[in-house]
Amino acid sequence: MKILIVGSGGREHAITWRLSRDEAGHSLFCAPGNAGTAAIAENVPVKAEDVEGIVAWAKSNKPDLVVVGPEAPLVAGLVDSLNAAGFKAFGPVAAGARMEGSKRFAKEVMDAAGVPTGKAEVFTDPAAAKAALPGYGLPVVIKADGLAAGKGVVVAETTEQAEQAIDDMLVANKFGAAGAEVLVEEFLDGEECSILALVDGERTVLLPSSQDHKRVFDGDKGPNTGGMGAYSPAPVVTDAMLPGIREKIILPVVRELKKRGITYKGVLYAGLMITPPGGKKALSGSAVNVVEFNARFGDPETEAVLPRLGGDFSAALMACVDGTLSDDLVTVKPESAATVIMASGGYPGSYEKGKEITGLADANAVPGATVFHCGTKSDDGKVLTSGGRVLSVTGLGADLRSAVDTAYAAVGKIAFEGEFHRRDIAHRAFNRV
Ligand code: AMP
Ligand code: GLY
Repeated sequence: MKILIVGSGGREHAITWRLSRDEAGHSLFCAPGNAGTAAIAENVPVKAEDVEGIVAWAKSNKPDLVVVGPEAPLVAGLVDSLNAAGFKAFGPVAAGARMEGSKRFAKEVMDAAGVPTGKAEVFTDPAAAKAALPGYGLPVVIKADGLAAGKGVVVAETTEQAEQAIDDMLVANKFGAAGAEVLVEEFLDGEECSILALVDGERTVLLPSSQDHKRVFDGDKGPNTGGMGAYSPAPVVTDAMLPGIREKIILPVVRELKKRGITYKGVLYAGLMITPPGGKKALSGSAVNVVEFNARFGDPETEAVLPRLGGDFSAALMACVDGTLSDDLVTVKPESAATVIMASGGYPGSYEKGKEITGLADANAVPGATVFHCGTKSDDGKVLTSGGRVLSVTGLGADLRSAVDTAYAAVGKIAFEGEFHRRDIAHRAFNRV
């Protein structure tokens, strides 16, 4: 098949890499891709957000399938435009991508579908939002409605912090239109995990569980990032929980969207909070609650989950588009996987770019290791840093310990100026006994 992958991060490199391993053999293109995708696909100089440019490329090159990685083009309607031009695209239409693009919309859908999630109210008036705070206790969560690159959520430990967040969003317009409405939300106690569900408009197949590490420093300290590492499976999700996640969370959302005239196809990513026995019980009464939905594969979860998938990946993606998804299209390897993000000094704040990366071949030569590129570019035979998250180094192993050891052995081969990474990926899994 001729397949175009849209995006330029570690997620897109992992999707491209996994497709490149299908036995059928594909002709792969990435828009715009990075130095990693350039080695296994042809990079196309069109930005992921350039909807017209991608549709124009499709018209000239006639791909059998377009796989859209990031949320921005999904929310902007890239899949709608590709479909209108007669092309098959993996990912939800814009109306479906609102599950990620509008937290208010996601709450409305969850409430209508009876999906367990934190209790929340939506406000545009700062005084009204502040007046609601006592009803939520502390901590309390303040969220901007729209996309804010992961920065629009404040878990406030004090009333002052909560009021400040409300003012930042509704008065100072810190997030522009994305923060024109805020949600005041119940704090959910527990441990988070990610479930990436393939959806074909009606049916779903859950991919193996994973857990992301959002904070920048070891021990989950420091500011939130796009994710500093991930591993799969996440033992906080037990096999006994999976049917409930499927029947009480994913499928009710898909059905509720259908009722509203939205046929959701692609990945529905559920960020879940699992409250342990003895933890503070959520008002929903459920021990598994939705923290957020995303309309795409997670990054870096994808770099840990896809290496565990067997079978023909293109067939699974195509079945989502064609409405023919079935369990047999996804097989999961027994191995565990862990991925470690190597980042530019200063990230998630400001950082320098253009640093030469060395040791990539040695890292890829470590048995069981694969280096996915997140923010890199090729320059005259060299590979240079071009983003905050630079590489996602994945290890596959018989168990989580060996996966983590493999990933760190590969990380140890790579160097660039200012590089830093977390040294405790999968610590929650190891600390469970
Ligand atoms: P979101 O953008 O909704 O994923 O929120 C970012 C992060 O904020 C999540 O990964 C959680 O760590 C935290 N968070 C969001 N909502 C809640 C909540 N209701 N209770 C506790 N933590 C939350
Ligand atoms: N790793 C979090 C996300 O993809 O949103």
